[in-house]
Amino acid sequence: MNIDYFSLIHAAMDAARAAWSPYSRFQVGAALLGTNGEIYTGCNVESAAFTPGCCAERTALFKAVSQGQRSFSALAVYGHPKDEPARSLTAPCGACRQMLAEFCGPDFPVILIKTEEEYKVVSLGELLPYAFSAEDWTTE
Ligand code: THU
Repeated sequence: MNIDYFSLIHAAMDAARAAWSPYSRFQVGAALLGTNGEIYTGCNVESAAFTPGCCAERTALFKAVSQGQRSFSALAVYGHPKDEPARSLTAPCGACRQMLAEFCGPDFPVILIKTEEEYKVVSLGELLPYAFSAEDWTTE
């Protein structure tokens, strides 16, 4: 399948606009492409109690899985301080990398975006080498 990076990048950049991040003031958007062709977007949602918040990537993944979609072709991620352009590429945090590995293999492409012209495509295997998986502990 040919992946339309342009649409995915734009969807991630647009999704960041909905971020609820009054504490960090860092806005993140994620766009997850399902193998069904649908794009599932997410933003970070913070809490005054801090720990209950959720990253943009897991918001997108949980939206997709809760709608019955479990297989994915690519993910795009964009983060920037509120009212400022992105300072760097934003990569998924460790918890999101682990959660992505639940549904996506080591070759899964992750697009890290700084601007619509400046982005880098890395694999989930590069982001999370030696991933822990169910195979490591299940007995059957
Ligand atoms: N955040 C994400 O949503 N995704 C990332 O890849 C990195 C961090 C959020 C969590 C928190 O709301 C804010 O960015 C600052 O860490």
